[in-house]
Order: sequence, then C-alpha cells, then structure tokens
Amino acid sequence: MAERVVLAYSGGLDTTVAVRWLQQKEKLDVYAVLVDVGQGGDTEKLRQRALESGAADARVVDAREEFADEYVARALAANAMYQDRYPLLSALSRPLICRHLAKAAHDFDAKYVAHGCTGKGNDQVRFEVSLVALAPDLEVLAPVRNWGMNREETIEYGLKHKLPISVAPSSPYSIDENLWGRAIECGVLEDPYTEPPDDIWERTRRPKGASDEPTYVEIDFRAGHPVEVDGRQMAFRELVQHIDELAGSYGYGRIDMIEDRVVGIKSREIYEAPGALALIKAHRDLEELTLDRDVLRTKRELERRYAGIAYDGLWHSPLREALDAFIHSTSAYVNGKVRLKMQPGNVSVVGRSSPAPMYDLGLATYDHLDAFDHKQAEGFVRLWGLPLKTWAKARQVDRGNLWESGPDK
Ligand code: ARG
Repeated sequence: MAERVVLAYSGGLDTTVAVRWLQQKEKLDVYAVLVDVGQGGDTEKLRQRALESGAADARVVDAREEFADEYVARALAANAMYQDRYPLLSALSRPLICRHLAKAAHDFDAKYVAHGCTGKGNDQVRFEVSLVALAPDLEVLAPVRNWGMNREETIEYGLKHKLPISVAPSSPYSIDENLWGRAIECGVLEDPYTEPPDDIWERTRRPKGASDEPTYVEIDFRAGHPVEVDGRQMAFRELVQHIDELAGSYGYGRIDMIEDRVVGIKSREIYEAPGALALIKAHRDLEELTLDRDVLRTKRELERRYAGIAYDGLWHSPLREALDAFIHSTSAYVNGKVRLKMQPGNVSVVGRSSPAPMYDLGLATYDHLDAFDHKQAEGFVRLWGLPLKTWAKARQVDRGNLWESGPDK
C-alpha cells in the first residue's frame, strides 16, 4: 500500500498538477485539503477538481470563523502591521491552514504533508515552520519548489495528464485573499515604478455614481475587541466584513509598498485592506485614550515584534503566545467607542470616548474648570531639566564657550 500525503489544495494550476505529480513521481496517495479562510470561489467545485485530478479523497474545511476569531482578532488587538504598513492577511492564514493540515494528516494516517509554494516566497517558510511546530513528526514535501517546471511546462504536464486546468490564466496576477484583505502580485506590478493598473482593484473600487457625502460610523470596543457598529451587535467576522465593504466603497485601504521578504528579497506588493486599516486605526486611537503612557509605549514596541513574528512564520511559537498574554492583559482597559468618518479616499477618527478614559478634562482644559496644579509643574520642570543643566555647566567649565565647541562639534 502506498504511503499517504495530505496536500494543501487551493484549486489553482500548481496544486492541481501537484496532485498528479505526487502520485506519479513520489508514488503517494494524495489527500487534498482545501481550507476555506474566506478566499471565495466555489469550494465544492474545487473539491471535485481535486478528485478529478486523482486525489484519493478531498475535503473542504470551513475555517472562516476560526480565522476571524483566533487569528484576525489577535492581529487587530496587536495592531499588527509588518513594516508598519502590511496588515499580514496572508501571513495570518498560513498557520491556520497548517493546523488543519496536521489534523487531516492525523485523520488520514498520512506520513507526509505537501504545500504548493515556490522557493521565493514567505509562504513556504510559514507552512514548514508552522508544521514543524504543530506536528514535528510529519515530513513536508514542496513539489512546486522542487519539480523544476516553469509555468508553460506545468501547463503542458497538466494537459498531458488530462487534468482539469485552464490554459489561459484567469488573471495575470497572483492573488491571495481572505477576510483581512487582498494581496495582488506579479505581472506589471513587478516594476516598482509602474502605477498599479486600475483593473487590479476589487475591494477598494468606488461604486459608479457613489455620493461624496461622508458616512459616520461608530464602533464599540469591549476589552479591545470590536463588538458593535452603530449600536448593532455583530459577530467579529461579520463586523470586519461590514467595515471592509463600507471603507472600501470610499476607495480607502490601498497599500503599495516595497516589502522585505524572509528569504532576503525585496518585492513590490499591493494590498487592499480597507477593513483592516480602518479597524486598526480605530483600535489604536481608543488605546491612546484608555491606556497609560508607559503601557502604550511598550505595547507599540511589542506590536512591531508581533508583526515580525507573524510575518516570519513564527505564529506557533512561545514568543507569540507570551506577547498575546501581554496584549490580553492591556486590552482589559480598552473599552469605549470610536467615531469614524468615511470620505472619498479616506477614513479618519473624529471622536473617541470611554467609560474609563485616561483623559481627564479637568487636567487637560485651559478654561476655568482647570484642576491642574500649575505650581507643581514648576518644580517638575526644574528637576526634569536638572541633568542637562548639570551637563551644560560641566561642559562650559571644561571647554570654554559652548557655541564654539557646540553639541555636535
Ligand atoms: N507578500 C505577502 C506575504 O508574504 C503576500 C503573499 C501572498 N501570497 C501569494 N501566494 N500570492 O504575506
């Protein structure tokens, strides 16, 4: 009896060809697993495609809720953005897909797991590192990285084996998509000086005849987690979708950046992530209102680290768990609501309030209600500057005129 491999199946050209290739070259029985993280498409049709390509079995796992609640919600609490710009949509989904691959490998009693990533991207790293963390006994195969076929040869292989592939690519771009946004790569986008053509946009397209009137949206957060929009309770997944559609309809949420991949290359990346950007903006703002200055500062530093960990494929790691514990602890104070204003091309925070704000009007105001003790400021400022005063005096004694041997000379 042949050994078994669980293949992370997307329904695209590469993984469809991989089904047959793993059988033919590696002599394995292939069990295809398509994990639905909200990428769209007819999953049942794709499942059939895997079977037609020769898979011994094919399953679809609906992980949309899990992706929202266990991955995206954490990323939002962490305001996670790689290079301060990319909200990590693809990076977040891989560790979840791996969880389901590991589970399927167990169910099907498979010795191997395979993915369809190339050798140039981050996703191979995320797949293999996640899998080793979750199921160290499984062996990982990377057929697409190793088969040495280019696109034409892959199509040729598919045609020769009568696989259900379409010869004309449906789009010149490589697209990865889920609840948290959409990534668009390849084609003309590889020239970093070329403006992205209009036809690449989907989620950030303004509907024809859309009015320029702004829309105001109020988002309620409880313990750092958005729970209501305009007073209406919503499940997290539904809420993200709702904000994504609304902000996207104003043309907000486009990202065009040069990204540093884990494997050492820079690439030009385009994203559309209206919901992610709007929600992170709102969440950060509410944190500024409700968190103590030191906690906030420390959290911002750790957020960078968090994004780096997620990007680099280290989601299933003790450090990510420890950072989540910190974030969970600080989030307890992040309660209240944020008012967003959506206008063509922009979403901005125009109001925030909390039942327990760190903002104190009595301390902040310049009018007659002022409760701030101005006299204490005098002593504070003097002591705050004392080390510099001491330093300046010492320098003048040592070096004579400060202006001739100034600070930078
Ligand atoms: N550059 C992004 C990342 O590494 C997006 C990757 C998209 N993946 C894809 N196969 N198109 O997270």
